[in-house]
Amino acid sequence: MSLFRTHISRHKLLFILAPLLTLCGAVGEVLLPRMIADLINHGIAASDMAYVRRQGLAMLGLVALLVLLSVLGALCAAKVSVLFSSGIRRDVFAKIQEFSFANIDSFHTGSLVTRLTNDVAQIQQFTMQMLRMGIRSPAHLLGALVMAFSINVRLALVILVVTPVLAVLIAVIIRAALPRFARMQSRIDQVNALLQEAMTNVRVIKSFVRGDYEKARFDSANLELQEASLDANRIMLLQRPTMTLAMDLTTVAVVWFGGSLIIGGRMPGGDLTAFITYVTQILTSLNMLSNILVTSSRAIVSANRISEIVETKVDLNDDYAARKELAVSQGSVEFRDVSFRYYKRSRNPVLSHVSFSIAPGQTVGLLGSTGSGKTTLTQMIPRLLDPDQGSILVDGVDVRDYSLQNLRGGVAMVLQNNLLFSGSIAENLAWGSEHATPEEMARAAEYAQIHQFISDLPDGYDTELEQGGVNLSGGQKQRLCIARALLKSPKILILDDSTSAVDTATEARIRRHLADSLPDTTKIIIAQRVTSVIDADKILVLNDGMLVGEGSHRELLASNTVYREIYYSQVKKEEAMA
Ligand SMILES: Nc1ncnc2c1ncn2[C@@H]1O[C@H](COP(=O)(O)OP(=O)(O)OP(=O)(O)O)[C@@H](O)[C@H]1O
Ligand SMILES: [Mg+2]
Repeated sequence: MSLFRTHISRHKLLFILAPLLTLCGAVGEVLLPRMIADLINHGIAASDMAYVRRQGLAMLGLVALLVLLSVLGALCAAKVSVLFSSGIRRDVFAKIQEFSFANIDSFHTGSLVTRLTNDVAQIQQFTMQMLRMGIRSPAHLLGALVMAFSINVRLALVILVVTPVLAVLIAVIIRAALPRFARMQSRIDQVNALLQEAMTNVRVIKSFVRGDYEKARFDSANLELQEASLDANRIMLLQRPTMTLAMDLTTVAVVWFGGSLIIGGRMPGGDLTAFITYVTQILTSLNMLSNILVTSSRAIVSANRISEIVETKVDLNDDYAARKELAVSQGSVEFRDVSFRYYKRSRNPVLSHVSFSIAPGQTVGLLGSTGSGKTTLTQMIPRLLDPDQGSILVDGVDVRDYSLQNLRGGVAMVLQNNLLFSGSIAENLAWGSEHATPEEMARAAEYAQIHQFISDLPDGYDTELEQGGVNLSGGQKQRLCIARALLKSPKILILDDSTSAVDTATEARIRRHLADSLPDTTKIIIAQRVTSVIDADKILVLNDGMLVGEGSHRELLASNTVYREIYYSQVKKEEAMA
């Protein structure tokens, strides 16, 4: 909750001003009925036109002041609640950016989105309400009670009978409504999660013709939300008739007793008008307070859900890095007895006791069957994951001793599921290097064998990409991602199956360009095809998380059974196809 405190103190002035203005307005609103009573008693009843005029003008002045206060108060409250919530949204977003892969996996993306939108909006609405109604209602309640008692104690006793009864009734209603609202909130979460998944995967859904299935899934979640909302709102509907009934009964009682008091000459007529207004103010403010209770309980749920994100411990940071000023300069990589598992409970590690070393500028191929741990292994170099055991050294220094910024600045990784962002091709390439010139971009694109394609587009490098780069082919996307990585001029370049969708001839050209243009960059190439890494200085063979072979193609072919199996299965297939 310290997040909220920080943001409240950031807008301290407005957080004080808004309720203050509202409070002043509320005091005026409580005084107004008293002035009407005086106008009736001393002006109209006594036929004193001068008094009527004076009092009337004073009331006009007060009303004008109240309007001004109300507008200013509402403005302040609206402004501060918007500033407050947008600050929270910014901080939560920034926090999510710090998340490690494991942190992200522990939240559902849909849920993160809901928290950043719906929950923050809930907080904003609540802040606004608290600054206005949260101040006005108690002020009205107290002020009107005092005024009512000052008019006539015996008549005021009617209020003292009605108010507790009404309070109990409202409490019963709210008690029933609160858990229903909590359920509604979790249903909203569910619908959003489904929505998010269905929207991001709409292509897969279509290609598997699973539209009907997804629709049914969504319909049922939507129906559950609908029922939960109806259920919660049905209860809340009871509130209004209860209120009206209480208000009408009290008015009748007040008019009854008050009338007899007036007829008996024990109360001036104008006081009854004021009294009825005070009764209305008291009951309305009670009703408002109950509404605030409902919103605040929903806001607490939202606040907790937001805090959960902010208070998540980022399990991968550089807080304890010993040599933060150090940058990657050579590009050597060494794994020392590295073991890793994704779930601390699982029995079989994804990597076990992996050790090897790569010299600066070497080209290293990484082979192994699917699921053998290749992606996992390489993700440890830029510290997208940390090993459970053992250590990884870059330039002879433990990766945990670098600042994340410097380490990741020296390592470029083309991820297996490479992603592009909405924006132009040039903007996407600039991810690799913010200030890259058009010539540098063209060169990188040339190396990645995508320059020709881009130049042939009507808008060239200014061509707009859709979200995720869906208006490109798989191979084009891959080559664009390689160009983006090259622009980083990394010391270590990791290509995770990055040419799987590129034909063999183009792939060979990319490989040759990489070798020629980046002789000093260490290149780690994960591939399914042996041909992709056949020329590598060294090939690492991974099997079931264990390093089972290390050497050049020739050496491995001579001595390594796993490698030989992979090689011959592929060569035979090619021969069969030829
Ligand atoms: N985020 C994750 N959470 C949990 N388990 C994971 C995660 N990513 C991968 N795994 C598991 O770890 C193992 C190794 O996966 P990894 O992605 O490293 O394999 P890979 O060799 O790159 O496979 P491929 O050739 O198919 O890309 C697999 O059994 C996989 O199920
Ligand atoms: Mg992989």
